[in-house]
Amino acid sequence: MFNNTKNKFNKKLNLQKLPQHIAIIMDGNGRWASRRGLPRNMGHKAGFENIKKIVEHIYKLGIKVVTFFTFSTENWKRPQEEIDGIFNLVRNHLKDDKEVQRLIDNDIKLTTMGDISKLPEDLYNKLTEVQQKTQNAKKLVLNLAINYGGRAEILRAVNEIVKSGKGVKTTEEFASYLYSASLPDPDFVIRTSGELRISNFMLYQMAYSEFYFTKTYWPDFSTKQLEKALIDFQKRKRRFGAVK
Ligand code: IPE
Ligand code: IPE
Ligand code: MG
Repeated sequence: MFNNTKNKFNKKLNLQKLPQHIAIIMDGNGRWASRRGLPRNMGHKAGFENIKKIVEHIYKLGIKVVTFFTFSTENWKRPQEEIDGIFNLVRNHLKDDKEVQRLIDNDIKLTTMGDISKLPEDLYNKLTEVQQKTQNAKKLVLNLAINYGGRAEILRAVNEIVKSGKGVKTTEEFASYLYSASLPDPDFVIRTSGELRISNFMLYQMAYSEFYFTKTYWPDFSTKQLEKALIDFQKRKRRFGAVK
């Protein structure tokens, strides 16, 4: 289990008004490393460690779904060594039975979004196995977007619909063909590193998401900053096109 130390959250944070689904574009690992004179993969390693810290905090806050943009359909353009480094981090984490047991003990369901069949076979198998082992967990959905792109996802949905031989009538029905079919749309999207763009992330699902951009590089994005972002989220007036 996660440690049971008494949770001390920022007093300004209203725990009754948290987003249901936070999606995080974890950016800036490379620059975090370069700034320290380290190879880019050290930045990914530090970034991966930060995922664990942030997941634990999100869990303790009681948020139900978190998606991490881990590897995009465009990230294949990077040097093979860097790609291997990123996959190795996921691989080594899931290979550790203690880590998988930690998911089970904490009632955390691991899901993925993206075409994971294009990943190295052992990684694909491991991801599938852990998803199966945690499929009944109820407390938190930990969703990893790997080999994920919003456009590729929409294209895949269209092809599935064509294959099914029947059209779809509503946008909800269309959404049921997306990887995220079982998840609520992200109500809060955070991007670190100072870039002000979406980079092909959850294009369909972000129609009414609230956005939060910070200059902090992902490995430095702390639980305190997460709470600050959430306080900001709670000040937003969401209208969904209506007059309120
Ligand atoms: C984000 O960090 C992680 C991935 C895209 C896998 P980057 O690797 O994009 O870091 P920067 O943007 O080059 O600093
Ligand atoms: C987005 O970051 C992808 C992930 C965080 C996995 P990138 O670093 O790939 O995005 P661009 O290239 O700056 O748009
Ligand atoms: Mg980047």
